[in-house]
Amino acid sequence: MSARPLAERAQRAIAECRRIAAMSEEPDRTTRRFLTPPVREVHALLRARMEALGMTVSVNAAGNLSGVWQPHHAHGKRLILGSHIDTVPNAGAFDGVLGLTLALECAEIAQELNLPLPIEVVAFSEEEGVRFGVPFIGSRAAAGRFDSALLKLKDADGVTLEDAIRAFGLDPGQIENAAIDSNALGFVEFHIEQGPVLEAEDLPVAVVTAIAGQSRHTLTWTGRANHAGTTPMRLRRDALAGAAEWISAVESLAQCTEGLVATVGRIDVEPNAANVIAGEVRVSLDARHADDASRKGAVEALLAQAQGIAWRRGLELQYTCQMDQPAVPMDEHLTALLADAIAAAGLSVKRMASGAGHDAMMIAARVPAAMLLLRSPGGLSHQPEETVLEEDIAAALAVCRKFLERWGAGIR
Ligand code: GLV
Ligand code: MN
Ligand code: MN
Repeated sequence: MSARPLAERAQRAIAECRRIAAMSEEPDRTTRRFLTPPVREVHALLRARMEALGMTVSVNAAGNLSGVWQPHHAHGKRLILGSHIDTVPNAGAFDGVLGLTLALECAEIAQELNLPLPIEVVAFSEEEGVRFGVPFIGSRAAAGRFDSALLKLKDADGVTLEDAIRAFGLDPGQIENAAIDSNALGFVEFHIEQGPVLEAEDLPVAVVTAIAGQSRHTLTWTGRANHAGTTPMRLRRDALAGAAEWISAVESLAQCTEGLVATVGRIDVEPNAANVIAGEVRVSLDARHADDASRKGAVEALLAQAQGIAWRRGLELQYTCQMDQPAVPMDEHLTALLADAIAAAGLSVKRMASGAGHDAMMIAARVPAAMLLLRSPGGLSHQPEETVLEEDIAAALAVCRKFLERWGAGIR
């Protein structure tokens, strides 16, 4: 097989991400939640690419699409490459999906190099937590950490996770079999940085040392809905005003706590009308820190502050925890191999923690995991202007080639 130029591969990977971005639940923007109809289109595109590479393709009960390349002279355990194909609402084209289009290029590079290395490319069904409020559904199942209680979760339309899986033609009773078997040696995820660091340092790629821990909560503030014109200010129990006071407190605490990021990104107001005092408000809290104790301490302080605000304003407060995920270090050996490949590709070796959550966070509990981050122009992500530079994709592919050569040398 003759070697395809990396610039051509980079162009193809970007074009495919842009094509996949058009596979959406909404006409003019990219929104693709867990197992919604556009996921079938993404599966069809990736399946066609995988089959063209001679891979054996399947979809497991968690909705993860997998393509396995088993070279005729294969020996050793397989390398797994992949990322997620769900998105946030009004997403960019590269978060998650780039990890798939690059993984397919890497698989083809391994074929060009005639490596005896079995490779599996996995498109995880869910990482963002948008549809059911709990993230990593796909990689959780792949890591063998799927709790069957999750099947009862409901989306905004009252559809349970279990029903969503069935509606996609899959059997939720088989989720246990979605776990990665013992024939896998490691997992590598390529992902955009989603932040400004690499751009500021003028670097195309970095290797991840650890992924920051994250907590997600939902807080429900209950007051009393009433007429906006007739109810004096001192007699109100305004759930939205209480939540708003607390949202400012969240921002203030994060601003003055080194390393903490905390976000209220979602708010649902009842009845959500200009002339009605809000009776009930639900808000999300997403808090992250590389140090687990600092994260937990901050979340406890914020929940205590919420209780104080609710008490002072005569509101009721309830909260539930959707996620308490500790920080996860990447595998030392695999990370060193990636760092070595970066240097061999003639690039500076930058090591950094990831503030974004990634499937590698779950998979690390099952098999050694490592990650390569690519520069995000403008530091933008989780919004439509998210983009990549073609030369950075080519650089990542050069790293990938060096990485595969090193891995292949180890198993020959
Ligand atoms: C995933 O994109 C996250 O929220 O970090
Ligand atoms: Mn994301
Ligand atoms: Mn992602």
